[in-house]
Amino acid sequence: MRFFLNARRDVEIVNFDILTYAGNPESLADVAHDPRYCLIRGDITDRTAVDKLFQLGLDAVIHFAAETHVDRSIEDASPFLKTNIFGTQCLLEAARPFPNIRLVHISTDEVYGSAPREAAFKEEAPLDPRSPYAASKASAEHFVTAYANTYGVSAVILRCTNNFRPFQFPEKLIPLMIANATENKPLPIYGDGLQERDWLFVEDYCRAIAIALEKAECGSIYNVSCGVSQPNLKIVRTILQVLGKPDSLIQYVQDRPGHDRRYALDSSKIQRELGWRPLVSFEDGIRKTIEWYRANSEWLDHARSGEYRNYYERHYDRRSETFRS
Ligand code: DAU
Repeated sequence: MRFFLNARRDVEIVNFDILTYAGNPESLADVAHDPRYCLIRGDITDRTAVDKLFQLGLDAVIHFAAETHVDRSIEDASPFLKTNIFGTQCLLEAARPFPNIRLVHISTDEVYGSAPREAAFKEEAPLDPRSPYAASKASAEHFVTAYANTYGVSAVILRCTNNFRPFQFPEKLIPLMIANATENKPLPIYGDGLQERDWLFVEDYCRAIAIALEKAECGSIYNVSCGVSQPNLKIVRTILQVLGKPDSLIQYVQDRPGHDRRYALDSSKIQRELGWRPLVSFEDGIRKTIEWYRANSEWLDHARSGEYRNYYERHYDRRSETFRS
C-alpha cells in the first residue's frame, strides 16, 4: 500500500483484509488518514463481501490474501485450504464478469519444492510443493491459470522468494531473530541451519508487482528473486553481528518436518521481458530492516502480544466499512 501511495499520486487503494493474527492496521497508521486509502475488514472466502468489493469500480486487484507461515500449515492445514485455495477461487469467481480488471496473484517459490544444488528454477519447471502451505499455493495457482484460460480473467502470477522488511510479523526468520537477539533470548535454528533461501527486500518486490500490473500479458507467470541463495545460519550471524550480539545466542532446535533444503529462482524472464531488476543489496536491506525494528520496539511488542487487534477497534471501526454477507 505504502509503496503504491508514494509512487503514484493518481492511485486509490482499498485494502480488503480480515485482520487475523498477522494483519496489523497499526502498520499502516501513517497512511490511514490519506483520502486515497481505505481499509475494509472482510473475508476473502465470503463471496457476497468479495462481490461488493468488485462493485466499487476497481481497475486492478493485487491478491496477497493468504495464510503464509509454513510451520502453522504443518500444525493445521485447514485454514490454508480455506483461505489460500477456496479464497482464491472465490475471488476469481467474483472477477469473472470483469475481464478488464487486472489481477496479480501473489504466489511463492515454494511451489517448485526444493532446488538442486547450484540450480535455479525457471518458470517452466514442474511444480512440486512439499509442505501443506506450498500445496495450497500451488493449488491456488492452478485455479488462477484455469480461470484465465477458461473465463478470460486477466490474471498474472508472480512467484517470489523470501521477502524481508520492516513491519513483518515476528514469526518469520528475520524479524524473529532480530526480536530475540535484541532481548538476548535464544535464536532457534532449525536442524543444521544450512538450508538456503534467496532473500529479496520488499521494495524490490513492490516494484516488480507494479511493473507486472502495467506490462505483463494475461496468463503470464514470472519468477521474482535477487538470485543469491544464502544459508539461514549466515543470515542469523549477520543479524547478530549488526546488533553486536554473541553467536552463543544461537540455539539449534529440532528441524521443521519436510523442511525444503534450498530455494533458488531464475528471474531472467521478468528482467528480460518487463525490465525489472533488484536494486537493494541484502546488506543494505538487512541494515534498514534491523534499524527499523530497533526504532519500533512498541510495534514489535504489540505484534507479539496481539495488542493491535484492539488498535483496530480504537482507530478503524468508525472510519471503515466492514463487509459481511
Ligand atoms: O519462499 C517464500 C516463502 O518464504 C513464502 O511463500 C512464505 O509465505 C514465507 O513464510 C517464507 O517461507 P519460509 O518457510 O522460507 O520462511 P521462514 O521465515 O519461516 O523460514 C526461513 C528459513 O528459516 C527456513 O529455512 C526455516 C528457517 N527457520 C525459521 C524460523 C521461523 C529457522 O531456522 N528458525 C525459525 O525460528
